[in-house]
Amino acid sequence: MRILIIGSGGREHAIAHSLSASGGKHTLFAAPGNGGICEMASTVPIRADDIENLVRFARAEQIDLTIAGPEQPLVLGIADRFDEEGMAIMGPSAAAARLEGSKAFAKAFMQRRGIPTAQYRTFGAEEYDQAAAWVRESGAPVVVKASGLAAGKGAVVCATVDEAVETLRFMLREQGFGAAGAEVVVEEYMEGEEASLFALCDGEDYALLAPAQDHKRVGEGDTGPNTGGMGAYAPVPVVTDDLLAVARDRIVAPTLQGMVEEGYPYRGVLYCGLMLTADGPRVIEYNCRFGDPEAQVVLPLLASDALEAFEATARGGLGGATLSLKPGAAACVVLASGGYPGRYETGFPIRGLDKARAERDVLVFHAGTASGRQEGGPDELMTSGGRVLGVTGLGGDLREALDRAYKAAGRISFENMQFRRDIGKRGLRS
Ligand code: AMP
Ligand code: GLY
Repeated sequence: MRILIIGSGGREHAIAHSLSASGGKHTLFAAPGNGGICEMASTVPIRADDIENLVRFARAEQIDLTIAGPEQPLVLGIADRFDEEGMAIMGPSAAAARLEGSKAFAKAFMQRRGIPTAQYRTFGAEEYDQAAAWVRESGAPVVVKASGLAAGKGAVVCATVDEAVETLRFMLREQGFGAAGAEVVVEEYMEGEEASLFALCDGEDYALLAPAQDHKRVGEGDTGPNTGGMGAYAPVPVVTDDLLAVARDRIVAPTLQGMVEEGYPYRGVLYCGLMLTADGPRVIEYNCRFGDPEAQVVLPLLASDALEAFEATARGGLGGATLSLKPGAAACVVLASGGYPGRYETGFPIRGLDKARAERDVLVFHAGTASGRQEGGPDELMTSGGRVLGVTGLGGDLREALDRAYKAAGRISFENMQFRRDIGKRGLRS
């Protein structure tokens, strides 16, 4: 099998790792990949959103299966292009990827299908006055979201009406989020713990992976600005079997059925971002791909063959294939560049990686790394992004997984390294 992975983060390294642990002989390619993926895949310098060059590459290299990591190429229609060319790809069509690409679409879809989510209104570029009036009427807290893709920064939880009106002005009047904010969703604030639920979907059938919890804020105790995610763990104790059954029956199944009935069957990874409210789980948002860092805990807990699962997702045949998950838990601590998610410097050598990897039941996934050299020095691994590494520990329970992850993380150092010391704390409490 010749497999192409699109993307360059910890998520894509976790995907590559799950495939290399899979039976059989495979040749892996990654576009563009990173300093860790290159150990297990040939990296190709094509950007994840350069669809025509990715199609050309896959055709020329006779790729059997392509796996799209990030959302941009999917929202731009890469799966449709691969379909036209008769090439298999794991990821939804552009029409189905609107679940992530357009929050206005996703909210209207949920309302049509009776899927539990926050009450909301949508406003266009010319409707600033109406939006502000609606916010004044409904009060705070309230959440203002850019409808389009905004790299995880498009949702603003506003504690006061003034802040909400200011955010609306920024998005609608000042085009602060560009085209992504030309339409906004204003929604009810929901209270509860968050969980990320991943379903592999082949258009008809689906299989759930272990529920995970992300840590979006940069600071301990969930303080400071939102990031792509500073750590994750799975499974999530508050997501009991009963709660999972409710999420499956009221959210995952009706979402997939709705997509079929409306003419855009969903094939790929469906990520349901859930708020576990007192009234049961409600959808915060959908994404059309694995989460990052969630993939770094969810995939290592997959006991079934990952390639078989991804193939069935892309080509059909998930029905009847119950995925088996490993017992125990996984926890991932993200090591980030100081300053992230704001401005940060890169190009610092990374020390101690071998020692970390030698720790028992530990996987080190690369995100922002690249091979480089300091003046006059040899080639070595350098920091090249905000989130640099994800250190995942596996254990019989969450405590053990966390201990292993933190012990291994303690072996690694680079200048200005920052990480959260409280990953999994909520999970330990419950
Ligand atoms: P989103 O981009 O929609 O996933 O939102 C990013 C983050 O904002 C979520 O992970 C939540 O922490 C928060 N958030 C979004 N929508 C709501 C809501 N309706 N109520 C409370 N928090 C929310
Ligand atoms: N960890 C959140 C995301 O991948 O969107």
